[in-house]
Amino acid sequence: MTKPFIESISVNAVSKLPSRAFGYKVRATIGGALNYFLKPYQDQLELSRLNYVLRARSPGNELSSEEVEALAQYQTSTFDLELRKQYFRKSLSDGVLETHTLHGLVIPLIEKVLKSDRSVNSVVDIGCNYAFVDHLLSMKYPDRVFIGVDVPKGIAEINSDLRSENLTVISGYALGLIKAGDLLGDVFYFSSTATAIKTAELRNYLELLSSRAKYVIFNEPLFVSPNGRIVNPDEVSIEESEPISVARGPLNNEYGYLCRAHNYRKMLEVSRFDVVHYEVYKPEFTNIYWIRAIGQNRNKELWK
Ligand SMILES: C[S@@+](CC[C@H](N)C(=O)[O-])C[C@H]1O[C@@H](n2cnc3c(N)ncnc32)[C@H](O)[C@@H]1O
Repeated sequence: MTKPFIESISVNAVSKLPSRAFGYKVRATIGGALNYFLKPYQDQLELSRLNYVLRARSPGNELSSEEVEALAQYQTSTFDLELRKQYFRKSLSDGVLETHTLHGLVIPLIEKVLKSDRSVNSVVDIGCNYAFVDHLLSMKYPDRVFIGVDVPKGIAEINSDLRSENLTVISGYALGLIKAGDLLGDVFYFSSTATAIKTAELRNYLELLSSRAKYVIFNEPLFVSPNGRIVNPDEVSIEESEPISVARGPLNNEYGYLCRAHNYRKMLEVSRFDVVHYEVYKPEFTNIYWIRAIGQNRNKELWK
């Protein structure tokens, strides 16, 4: 049989696509341009609304046990342990750990204190996460004790490859442990942790530390706000820190921490710490501005 000829049936063919498509194109272009201008405004608005909601939901000066549990779960479910391990080890072998990693930026501050004050026996890292930096310090200063604390239940296991005699990694809510007298140290430091702590809670940490810590060190980000502003921490109220960024989960887009710019200098001072080191700068390897500060307790009794 020869191949049959099928005549095409033209029901409602159009020779040209309707010009409406052009209208949509124009709208999409204008929309894109408007969005370009609106986005920073909307993001800034979202940030302040989020801050407002969080303050209403969590008005106290510490986290409730449910909040600690939620934080621990969030941390556990978003832990990028293998990436961290590779990142820190590569930075160390490239000789840039102290200059090109955010956690590493705290090392010179801790060493400054350890070298200038022989009475300092212990250093506590609040929110230690993967405590590579503490492990390195513990190897370099075998006669001092290093303690890392963080909320995930499995934090000791996460750090199990960083064993050294004078490093302990413990799971728990640092504020609760300090309050109960279960977490002692001469130096307490926050590295990218204070930014995630709400204003009243951070002041609570400092008040508690003022009766027992010789030094408090901050090594913290100052993210550029969605509206392009870099908040000067010295201009921020100590009653209400400024929300500067919200971390969203890379895969699920879920809300992570609300990050704040605190007035670190004033907060230290009102809790009776002298600010003996203070700098705000932009490390060359990142777009994030950075604050480093050391507070030394005014209470001379702590040195007796
Ligand atoms: C961005 S990570 C910083 C990890 C590490 N210190 C560094 O410099 O890379 C923030 C850490 O702070 C902890 N954290 C967040 N909120 C906290 C709070 N209210 N009290 C104590 N730790 C908190 C988290 O569990 C998390 O491990």
